[in-house]
Formats: sequence, structure tokens, C-alpha cells
Amino acid sequence: MIHASSVLDRVLVLEMVRVTEAAAIAASKLIGRGDEKAADAAAVEAMRAALNELPMDGTVVIGEGERDEAPMLFIGEKVGSAQGSGPGIDIALDPLEGTTITAKAGPNALAVLAIAEKGGLLNAPDVYMDKLAIGPGYPEGTIDLARSASENVRSLAAAKGVQPDEIIACVLDRPRHAELIAELRSLGCGVKLIPDGDVAGVIATTDPDTGVDVYMGSGGAPEGVLAAAALRCVGGQIQGRLLFRNDDERGRARRWGIEDLDRIYSLEDMAAGDCIFAATGVTDGSLLRGVHRGKSCITTESIVMRASSGTVRRVIGEHRKALT
Ligand code: FBP
Repeated sequence: MIHASSVLDRVLVLEMVRVTEAAAIAASKLIGRGDEKAADAAAVEAMRAALNELPMDGTVVIGEGERDEAPMLFIGEKVGSAQGSGPGIDIALDPLEGTTITAKAGPNALAVLAIAEKGGLLNAPDVYMDKLAIGPGYPEGTIDLARSASENVRSLAAAKGVQPDEIIACVLDRPRHAELIAELRSLGCGVKLIPDGDVAGVIATTDPDTGVDVYMGSGGAPEGVLAAAALRCVGGQIQGRLLFRNDDERGRARRWGIEDLDRIYSLEDMAAGDCIFAATGVTDGSLLRGVHRGKSCITTESIVMRASSGTVRRVIGEHRKALT
């Protein structure tokens, strides 16, 4: 029996890029075509085919939805060509993170994947999650979801050695965030509003070039786990709390074994042990260049990182046959 870590280490790190590249290239044909569903379906089909070529006994723990909602890459679906014999690996995926962005040819759409040893990724239901994230280099406890946005900004500003009005927060541009945005602006903070794509929004806190200090606000819980996996690799802090809009969503969480519905999840609660995070840009963005379809080849840019080594690799792909 191959131990999962050695496989994460030796075989799967770069293979993950092939999987996200395949999804991104498939989705790229639909950039700007106004059809979110077609773009998502193309990415899902390509990612699933690529995953099924890998020698692993994989289980989708965060995917396209529950079995009755998603025909492919549903939660619990087994993927990989070594079922029963290869290493048991849990997979969180979003073949197209930013379906609307892709349909409108906006920035920061990604094909995203995270893998971990069995049990390493929080099996989050597809509900909203309140998220709070900062990049590396700050003392533990600098941010705390139990505190107000103002308290977190003040604490972060003190840790950074700046005034609160020098902090830049990234927030999804949604009516539900009106109060949060007003609170941040009352402190004088810069608020970078993004139309979609909070995985890239959270990761932006880890890159000083983006200018983003903190990510705040609610988005998909699955995207929260994916972002946590990225931060496990590259450093930073993230906390998340599930948000439930109705009893159906609460029931869904309970069915998944979640008892404390108000729990604040730490980074390690969402992504533990060794894990690998990979993403390929679909449209140009702050993290990655998107897919460019040239005359003789398609180019892709991907990032793949691993928690146990802290290694971050950027991979430029030139795909000649993919054009046909
Ligand atoms: P999709 O790719 O599934 O469209 O998700 C895009 C996204 O912006 C996520 O990044 C984010 O977590 C979520 O949608 C926010 O949900 P909502 O659009 O309902 O505010």
C-alpha cells in the first residue's frame, strides 16, 4: 500500500496542473459567450476525464453538488484509475470558479483543485460561509471572526504598523455586504469590490502586489475550503463560519454530521495535514494569466503548491494539440 503523503509528494503534485489545465482550456472556448452553464459543463467534463486518468483512489468531498443535483463530480463520486488499490485521496474541486466571470469575459476566473489525505478537507455543505482572511507574517489571533469588522481592521493595522485607513479590504460586490462596506469605509479603508471569485480574493491577501490586506464577507463554503487549502500551502490565516438561510440548509449541514452550526472553523479545521492546491487561470486575473488561444498553440498559466514543503510552482503550458 502506498502511503498517501508519498503520492502527494512524488506523483500528484505536477499531475494536478494537468487536471486544472484541462478544465481551464475546455472552459476557455466559452469565455465571453454569455453561457455560464455551458462553460461550467465543459470544465467539469474535462476535469473529470483528467482526474480519472490519475493512479489514485480519489473521492470528491467538495464538488459540483450532492448526487441528485450534479451528474458529474458530485460529492462522494469516486475518481481515479486505481480504485481500491491506489492511495485514498480526498478532493475538493471547482472546475470553473467564476462561471459568470467567464460568461462575461471578466477577470479572475480559475479552474481549481485541492487534494489531501483522507479526512484532511472539511466536508462543507454548499451553503454560504462568512470568511475572514489575511496573508502570511502576522501573529496568530490578529484576526478573529468573533470580533467586528472594525476591531479586525484595527488589530490588523496595528500588526502591520499602519493606520486603519491604510488597510485595503477585498469584498464580494453584493447587496448583502452593504453594511460591511459602509463600516469599512467609515474607518477610511479602501474596499476592493470584486464581482465574483472569492478564492482568488482570499489568495490576493497573500500577494503584496495586489495591495489587498484582508478578505471579508460571505461567499460559498466550498470556495472557503479551497481557499483554506491554498493558504495552508502559502501561509496566512483564514476563519470561516457557515451561514444558513433556512431549515433546509441547516438540515443539510446536520446530515453531514455538523452539530455546532455556529462554529468558527480555523484554517486547520478546513484543510489539515499535507495538501496540494492547484489552479489554472481561465481569464486574466491578479493570481494568474488566463488561457490565451493563439494561432498555433494555447497557453496556460497555473500555480501548484504543497503544504508540507511550502513549495509554490508556477507552470506555463503551451498546448499545441489542444487547439484541434
Ligand atoms: P460560481 O463560479 O459557482 O459562479 O461562483 C462564483 C462565486 O463568486 C464564488 O467565488 C463565491 O464564493 C460565490 O460565487 C458567491 O456566491 P453569490 O454569487 O451567491 O454571492
